[in-house]
Amino acid sequence: MVWWHETTIYQIYPRSFADSDADGIGDLRGIIDRLDHLVDLGVGTVWVSPFFPSPQEDFGYDVTDYTGVAPEYGTLDTAVELIDAAHDRGLHVMFDLVLNHTSDQHPWFLRSKGSRDNPKSDWYLWADGRGRDGRKPPNNWRSALEVNSAWQWSEERGQFYLATFLPFQPDLNWRNPEVKAAMFDAVRFWLDRGVDGFRLDIFGQIMKDPQLRDNPFAPHMATGFPRGWRREHTENTPDNIVLAQELHAVCAEYSDPDRILLGEVFGPPDVLREYNAGGRGLDLVFLFDFLLYEYDAQWFEDTIRRFEDSFPAPMQPTYVLENHDRSRSLDRVGGDRRKAAVLAVILLTVRGVPTVYMGQEIGMGNTYLPLDRALDPVASTYFRWIPEVANRRLGERLNRDEVRTPMQWDGSANAGFTPAGIRPWLPVNPDYPQVNVAVEAGDPESLLELYRRLFAVRRAHPALHRGSLHLISGLPADVLGYRRTDPETGQQCAVFANLGRTERQVRAVSSESVVGTGGATCADGTIHLPPDSAIVVVRQRPGPSTV
Ligand code: NOJ
Repeated sequence: MVWWHETTIYQIYPRSFADSDADGIGDLRGIIDRLDHLVDLGVGTVWVSPFFPSPQEDFGYDVTDYTGVAPEYGTLDTAVELIDAAHDRGLHVMFDLVLNHTSDQHPWFLRSKGSRDNPKSDWYLWADGRGRDGRKPPNNWRSALEVNSAWQWSEERGQFYLATFLPFQPDLNWRNPEVKAAMFDAVRFWLDRGVDGFRLDIFGQIMKDPQLRDNPFAPHMATGFPRGWRREHTENTPDNIVLAQELHAVCAEYSDPDRILLGEVFGPPDVLREYNAGGRGLDLVFLFDFLLYEYDAQWFEDTIRRFEDSFPAPMQPTYVLENHDRSRSLDRVGGDRRKAAVLAVILLTVRGVPTVYMGQEIGMGNTYLPLDRALDPVASTYFRWIPEVANRRLGERLNRDEVRTPMQWDGSANAGFTPAGIRPWLPVNPDYPQVNVAVEAGDPESLLELYRRLFAVRRAHPALHRGSLHLISGLPADVLGYRRTDPETGQQCAVFANLGRTERQVRAVSSESVVGTGGATCADGTIHLPPDSAIVVVRQRPGPSTV
C-alpha cells in the first residue's frame, strides 16, 4: 500500500505558526523548531502553505518566483532543511503549488502585459474586449468570488487578461507549451529537493475553454454559496483532467517514496473522482463538505455515504473540517468543546485521509477582526462595505484574517508565537491564556490530548487506518455509527457518536473502548452515549456482535 493511503495531514499556515526571528511573522525556521509538536500529536504529513517570494497581497498565493523562498520566511537552504528535518522525524512534507495564476508582479506578467508581441506575450490569457470601444469583457466568466467579471482591463496592452481569483493574480496560459514546461520544471525543482508532494491551489480551474464560450446561466448552490453561472467552460473541464495526468507523470519520474498530488478542486464527488480515474491523475482531492458540516447525525451519515460511494477503495476520500479560508469548526458549534470532541472523533476515524488545520487540535476559535481593518484582500476589496453587525451574524467568515491568527503555544505574551514586545502580523486571540498547547498538554480533558489519543489509536489499529467502512443502520436517529474492518487481520472497530440531546444506548458485545468523549462508556456489551459524546470500540474476539 502506498504511504499516503494511510497518512494524516496537518496544515501549517507559515505566516502564523512560529516566528523564530522576532519580526512578527512566522517563518520556516519557526516550523523546524516546532516540528516536535507534530510528532507528539502523531500526524503523518505536514502541508505548508506558500512561502515563495511574493508581494504578499494574498499572503503567498500570489507568487513571483516558484523556486525561491520569500526573505521573511527564510532561504532555500531553510526550506531544504525543513524537508530533511521533517523526514528525520518520520514526517512527510507537502508544499503548496499555485499553478493557476502568478502575482501580477511576476517578471513573466510584467513582460507579458508590455506588448502583444514579446516572448512572454502569450504566457497569460489575454483577449480583446467586446463592444464598440472594446471595453466590455470578452465573455461572461465570473471570478471565483462571483461578484465580478474574471476579466481585468490592461491599459498598457489594450486587452483584457483573465484573473480567476483576484485582479492581481493573472491566470497563466497552460496551453502554451513554454508555460507548461516552466511550471513542470518548478515542480521538479522541489521534487529534486525531496518534497513528498503538493497541495494544488484552485487546481480545478486551470484549463479553460480555448474558444472562450460563455458559461450557461443556471442558478444553483455550490459549496454552500448560491451561484448564477455554472462553470461548464472554466472548471473541471476534460482538459483539466488531462493536465492532472500530465502532472502525475512528472511526479512518477520520482520514487522512493512515491510523490503525492492533493488537489483543491470543487464540485460534486462523482465529478471530482474523475481526477483520480485509473489512479493516474491527482492522488487525492479535497472534499470540502465537512467545512460546512451540519451538527446532525443524519447529515454526517449522508455525507460519508456519498463519499464512500464515489471513492470506493482503493480510492480514498478526504475529510477536512477547517482550513485557512473558512471559519474555525469550533465556532460552527458555538464554541462547544464537547461537540468539537465529537467532530474530532468522526474526522479521525472515517476511511480516507483527514486534514487538521493548525490550532484545530487545541480548539482555536475565530478571532474577531472587523472587516474594515482586514489585511485579507478578499475582505478588504470586496466585503469592506458590509455593516459589521451583519458580518458578525454570518456563519462564514468573510475576513479570512479571523482564522489565520497566530498559533497559541503557551500562556506567555503573544502566546509564544513571537517574543513579548513584538507586534504579530495579526493579533493573537485573547483566549490564548486558556487555549494553548502548553496548558492543554497533559490535561486528559483537553482537546489536544483527545487529538493525540485519536491519532495514536488510528495508527495502532489497522482497521482504522486502512480498513473498510460500513455505516451501521437501525441506530437511534441522532446516533451516527460505522464499523471499520481490516481485511488482512480481520480487526474490527466501531465508532458511535451521539449528536442529539438525549442519552442513548447501543449494544456492542465483546467490545472494548479505546477512546471515549463526553462520558461515553462501553461495559458488559452496552455502550452508553450521553448527549454530545462519541466512542471508538474494538472487538475483542471474533464472533457475532450487534455492531
Ligand atoms: C485558494 C487558497 O486556499 C486561498 O487562500 C487563496 O486566496 C486562493 N486559492 C487564491 O490562490
